[in-house]
Amino acid sequence: MAQWQRTHTCNDLREEHVGQTVTLNGWVLITRKFGHQNFVDLRDRYGLTQIVFEADNPELFAQSELLKREWVLSVTGVVRKRLAGAERTDIPTGAIEVEAKILRVLNPCPPLPFSVTEFPDEELPNEDLRLQYRYLDLRRRSLQRTLLLRHRLCKVIRDFMDAHQFLEVETPMLGKSTPEGARDYLVPSRIFHGEFYALPQSPQLYKQLLMIAGYDRYFQIARCLRDEDLRADRQPEFTQLDVEMSFVERDDVLTLMEQLAVEVFEKCLGVKLTTPFPRMSYAEARAKYGSDKPDLRYGLEIVDVSEIAAASEFSIFKNALAAGGVVRAINARGAATQFSNTALKPGGELPKVVETYKAKGLAWLKVEGGQLIGSIEKFFPAELKAQLCERLGASDGDLLLFVADSEAVVCDALGGLRTYLASRLKLYKNWWDEKAEHDAAEKKKVEAAKKKKESYTPVPFQPRPEHFRFLWVIDFPMFGWDDEEKRWSAMHHPFTAPLDEDLPLLWQNDSLGQVRAKAYDLVLNGYEVGGGSIRIHRQDIQSRVFEIFGMTPDDAKARFGFLLDALQSGAPPHGGIAWGLDRWAMIIAGTTNIRDVIAFPKNQRARDLMTGAPAPVEQRQMQELGIELTAATRALLRERQQREGQ
Ligand code: AMO
Repeated sequence: MAQWQRTHTCNDLREEHVGQTVTLNGWVLITRKFGHQNFVDLRDRYGLTQIVFEADNPELFAQSELLKREWVLSVTGVVRKRLAGAERTDIPTGAIEVEAKILRVLNPCPPLPFSVTEFPDEELPNEDLRLQYRYLDLRRRSLQRTLLLRHRLCKVIRDFMDAHQFLEVETPMLGKSTPEGARDYLVPSRIFHGEFYALPQSPQLYKQLLMIAGYDRYFQIARCLRDEDLRADRQPEFTQLDVEMSFVERDDVLTLMEQLAVEVFEKCLGVKLTTPFPRMSYAEARAKYGSDKPDLRYGLEIVDVSEIAAASEFSIFKNALAAGGVVRAINARGAATQFSNTALKPGGELPKVVETYKAKGLAWLKVEGGQLIGSIEKFFPAELKAQLCERLGASDGDLLLFVADSEAVVCDALGGLRTYLASRLKLYKNWWDEKAEHDAAEKKKVEAAKKKKESYTPVPFQPRPEHFRFLWVIDFPMFGWDDEEKRWSAMHHPFTAPLDEDLPLLWQNDSLGQVRAKAYDLVLNGYEVGGGSIRIHRQDIQSRVFEIFGMTPDDAKARFGFLLDALQSGAPPHGGIAWGLDRWAMIIAGTTNIRDVIAFPKNQRARDLMTGAPAPVEQRQMQELGIELTAATRALLRERQQREGQ
């Protein structure tokens, strides 16, 4: 071992080490100078230890004067107890410090673009800068904690899957397009000019082929790539826990996944979940919550008032109903005083929300002194008003919000309004917000105790089961009508089996909209954290489904011939699921930003700000691939490079 190498990490030393000579390696988190003593908090992945340089060792003391944040050091010294009153209860090494005897600067550095100390009142630099210097951002304690939790999550999953006889099998990254509803990332072939590999949107077909190959139980922590519009919970490259099982029906998959969720929450967060998770049909979820991934941490259920609206004199409601639409409402309990009449007028706060979902307007009524008052009061005679109140369980102080349109628009608009209202009215708390409040209160107690020269050990926050509202959404429609392309497409993916009782409908062209699929989504606090299905294992059914999507037998053979052949080679009944692992990590780590749980994420425009990818390549590389940029693309590229100063 070289002399500068560590004997301990920065989190190892305790009172029992007092008197020992140790060597620590790490980064300077902060320096503090107090006349005859210089202090350095030395940090590594494991923790931090206070180092003291005493003025009675003038040479070493002078060396320590030069130290700056983020320099890499090796310090050899003697462990000693901190002075009474100078102990820290918030770190495990808080009872001791190391009196330096030898200092070796392993690598100095100039001042860095931003600080990684994370003092409580320190504002984070903007995210673009943090993504550009991701290796610095990753030094922050909170990001390290997050990646550690993600590691723990994967470890728990692997142990569980192994204990349940699942084999982890890797599947190719260079393959043929697997339709999961997004655009493919394509990789040009050098050998076969004009031909492309598709990067996998998921390992869907490979896992089915593994079932046909008899592997019975497969899993993989798999990278998936989808070129789609990004959101706070979406990345172009993301990770799935991908699972497939043979000889199973829906409930086998659901039960096993519930057991895994219980294990994950117990081991990662100390939370004991109760199973089975509630289940709800897609139709009920859309009608009640306007969404196929409802957040059940709050109420605000949607209520159909079409019948009452039909008897009113309000032409907008009546016209919507006459056109085959619906009128539905949300009772925002006690919210009448939270929204002024201006906020409810066209162009106001709430109408703007529903307009983003293509609703033409928002009608409203407030309950005041037993009366309904608002934009549509005059169209509802007293008796209908009473019926509305009864239907919506309305009482004084409530705000009733109505949308009339096609069923799809009403669901989307009221679903969107529901989520907006819940956050605006603070109807739920994320567990990490509650933790922040708890921690702040505990910190105050520590400070108060310190003032009284007493000691107080802060109580750690423990999330509770009610912070995590799981839901299985089942019985999805098998097909959705694509109005642009004028054809049916798969709601889940084309390999999903129909419900047995709906199978005959597959051959009735006018009933395709009624076919339900053996598909299921797992929803947690309004996030879709998993999705799967029982698969088609019969070739004739799979061929018929391809036909419904508008594929000729020749098209189907060209695209999926290998699957159709495999289905005729002894395919067992099988099914599975994939979890969005990044989303699980987000919820477990307590963040709403998917980039926080990925070591090297892309920004919202799918650019890696650190490496600059995507980036132009050399002419020679393109020639090898048989690719030539058009003049228009070259001009665009030049313009972008000038704009971005590349
Ligand atoms: P699906 O497309 O529903 O199913 O994906 C499964 C889960 O992956 C997560 N997810 C994402 N996470 C982050 N960024 C994205 N861009 C992204 N897209 C999806 C979601 C989702 O529930 N092959 C099927 C699974 C199966 O049928 O077994 C599939 O991929 O949490």
